[in-house]
Amino acid sequence: MSIPYILCHMLTSLDGKVTGNFLSRLECEAATEIYYELNREYKAKGSGGFICGRVTMEESFTEGAYPDLSQYEPAPKICGQFSNFWPDQAINATYFAIAFDPKGKLGWKSNVICDSDPGYDGATIVEVLTEQVDPRYLSYLEEKEIAYFFAGKTEINVPFALSVLYTHLSPEFYILEGGSIINGSFLRADCIDEISLVTVPTTADKDSKSIFTDGEILDFKLNKAEQRNGVLVTRYIRIQEE
Ligand SMILES: NC(=O)c1ccc[n+]([C@@H]2O[C@H](COP(=O)([O-])OP(=O)(O)OC[C@H]3O[C@@H](n4cnc5c(N)ncnc54)[C@H](OP(=O)(O)O)[C@@H]3O)[C@@H](O)[C@H]2O)c1
Repeated sequence: MSIPYILCHMLTSLDGKVTGNFLSRLECEAATEIYYELNREYKAKGSGGFICGRVTMEESFTEGAYPDLSQYEPAPKICGQFSNFWPDQAINATYFAIAFDPKGKLGWKSNVICDSDPGYDGATIVEVLTEQVDPRYLSYLEEKEIAYFFAGKTEINVPFALSVLYTHLSPEFYILEGGSIINGSFLRADCIDEISLVTVPTTADKDSKSIFTDGEILDFKLNKAEQRNGVLVTRYIRIQEE
């Protein structure tokens, strides 16, 4: 099974946390800028887009909007199953926002990301769903010409989802950009080839979540370490077992 190369790129506190109050502190601003700068560099070097969990997509791009499904008819099933949906716009695109949205909650305004940062702006949205989705959400996505596919019953099977992306779209390299829950599911499936960390010189409070929810032991080797504007940037590559 062929799957794309995955680089997990995260801004972390000194104690390895990626969510919570420390992110909005003034002390975190320089590191945040470097984080976005690196995302733009990865795009320039050929990243095919970014993969995020539903919560991160909601906070960063849809501002918590939920679609009003009352005006949509349920999408029809074929042979008892819903079909995947690949509009031409997605097939022909080269830069993607891949949303892990198992229940179909995200309310998109259009089929591309609209953002002031060119590292995100214009990315074509792809929804990764499970069989828990409300069938009216599929009609909503189809009306908006947003690509979607199914990758599990209740949980998204990460290697399967990546193999579908590899088969249907052109990119062979994506950036995984959190949060903690999606990162953990990629780690447990051993689908992270590389980790890129921008470390904020601040510790986090007790409510912050670690870079990987429910992680496990896997080995990586240090590939690069540099200081940018007083902030430590590191890259680690997964050591493949014999
Ligand atoms: N420091 C950084 O660099 C950075 C980067 C990005 C985000 N963040 C922070 O991360 C926070 C969000 O992180 P989070 O861990 O709470 O949420 P998240 O990982 O962004 O999203 C989690 C949700 O995505 C869906 N999901 C992800 N993987 C799945 C899988 N394999 N199978 C099924 N569903 C899956 C589920 O949606 P449902 O709940 O709908 O089932 C799950 O609850 C934000 O507050 C943001 O600020 C930080």
